[in-house]
Amino acid sequence: MIEETVRKLIESARAARESAYAPYSRFSVGAALMADDGDVYQGSNVENLSFGLTVCAERVALFSAVAAGKRDFTGLALVTDTPEPVTPCGACRQVLHEFAPDLWVVSANLRGQHKLFTLRELLPYSFDTDLSK
Ligand code: THU
Repeated sequence: MIEETVRKLIESARAARESAYAPYSRFSVGAALMADDGDVYQGSNVENLSFGLTVCAERVALFSAVAAGKRDFTGLALVTDTPEPVTPCGACRQVLHEFAPDLWVVSANLRGQHKLFTLRELLPYSFDTDLSK
């Protein structure tokens, strides 16, 4: 992934984080997902009083992009205010894998650090099978 794209996605995720609705955990997350045509879709975590109904920033970004008709993606950035960059939760990894098994994942924090991963390294042995067989 080229550095310019990494920067663009981190900046977009940082802006998306401002919209997080996280009154319960007070842990705001921003995500930005790039489609194969270069369009970028933002997401932030949206919590609920019934905690289990919370949706992570990564899935909000992905579902927004899919609802806009996009099906293929190249990279995702997430931004948190943590001492070290964090990686997407397991549930989000599987959901991202559905559309983009070869996705680049950029984990970044507000201190300017970032780490680059592939979704394949974050989710080895993903659930992947032909249900008709
Ligand atoms: N969260 C995300 O948005 N993405 C992740 O990958 C991990 C966790 C959110 C869910 C919840 O609103 C808060 O962070 C604390 O878990």
